[in-house]
Amino acid sequence: MNMTGKKALILGIANKHSIAYGIARALKEQGVELAISYAGAALAKRVHPIAEELGVEQLFECDLSKDNDIKNMISILAEEWDRIDYIVHSVAYAPISDLNLPFHHISRHGFLTAMDISVYSLIAVVREADLLLQPGSSVITLSYYGAQKVVPNYGIMGAAKAALEASVRYLAHSMGEKGVRVNAISAGPIRTLSSAAIGGVAQMQRRIEKSAPLARNIEQEDIAKTALYLLSDLASGVTGDIVFVDSGISIMAY
Ligand SMILES: NC(=O)c1ccc[n+]([C@@H]2O[C@H](COP(=O)([O-])OP(=O)(O)OC[C@H]3O[C@@H](n4cnc5c(N)ncnc54)[C@H](O)[C@@H]3O)[C@@H](O)[C@H]2O)c1
Repeated sequence: MNMTGKKALILGIANKHSIAYGIARALKEQGVELAISYAGAALAKRVHPIAEELGVEQLFECDLSKDNDIKNMISILAEEWDRIDYIVHSVAYAPISDLNLPFHHISRHGFLTAMDISVYSLIAVVREADLLLQPGSSVITLSYYGAQKVVPNYGIMGAAKAALEASVRYLAHSMGEKGVRVNAISAGPIRTLSSAAIGGVAQMQRRIEKSAPLARNIEQEDIAKTALYLLSDLASGVTGDIVFVDSGISIMAY
């Protein structure tokens, strides 16, 4: 696996607990050049030092619910880079008022917002970046088992992740002709800003320690290593797939 000199656009670093941070760090260790975007000014204070630590030259503030932000980011990037080898989409959002509601109580606004930011943003970024994506380029996003089975408290995000996983398959198909691969990692629960908004994570983690084949919770590094595999040429024949990095808990019936 030689990733030296490859160029990666990383979306979704909020702080050092972010899954995207772990992936960015692992890519940096492989000699990959990084561009990073963060959601808004409120995060600048946390993300700027991270960008410095990772030697990032291209740092963008980009609200992925805004087409103009995405267009601007890609057009500025295109002035510096002739191609993007890897895109890491590690982004999700649902209004807090709609999280943890009984599923039949979620609002239209909450549902559409979750779909827009957690799902459509992937499609929008791939569409804008299309000209910079080359045969061999690879795109990954982050999903969770709540896409496939009911996880209490995950409601609105479960529907969004199901749509995200379907979008991965359709993107893999539409980008496949060009030789661009698109996959998702379905990660087990780890403590981040996003997972803190979802109730019951500590309880899930206790259950995983007891019942998962590997009898432990996963760490940022477990996800980052699988990200390296999916982004790199080691996964040259893999696309449209959902790879579980969850200590095996998803194979268990109870
Ligand atoms: N933490 C877990 O247990 C877990 C498990 C499985 C999947 N995931 C998924 O991993 C991904 C990353 O989450 P995380 O756990 O690292 O949490 P995180 O909060 O660190 O990352 C989520 C990121 O999404 C960004 N974001 C939200 N709205 C945005 C917008 N409008 N524009 C641009 N960016 C926006 C946030 O700023 C943040 O950087 C998410 O898709 C999440 O659903 C997380």
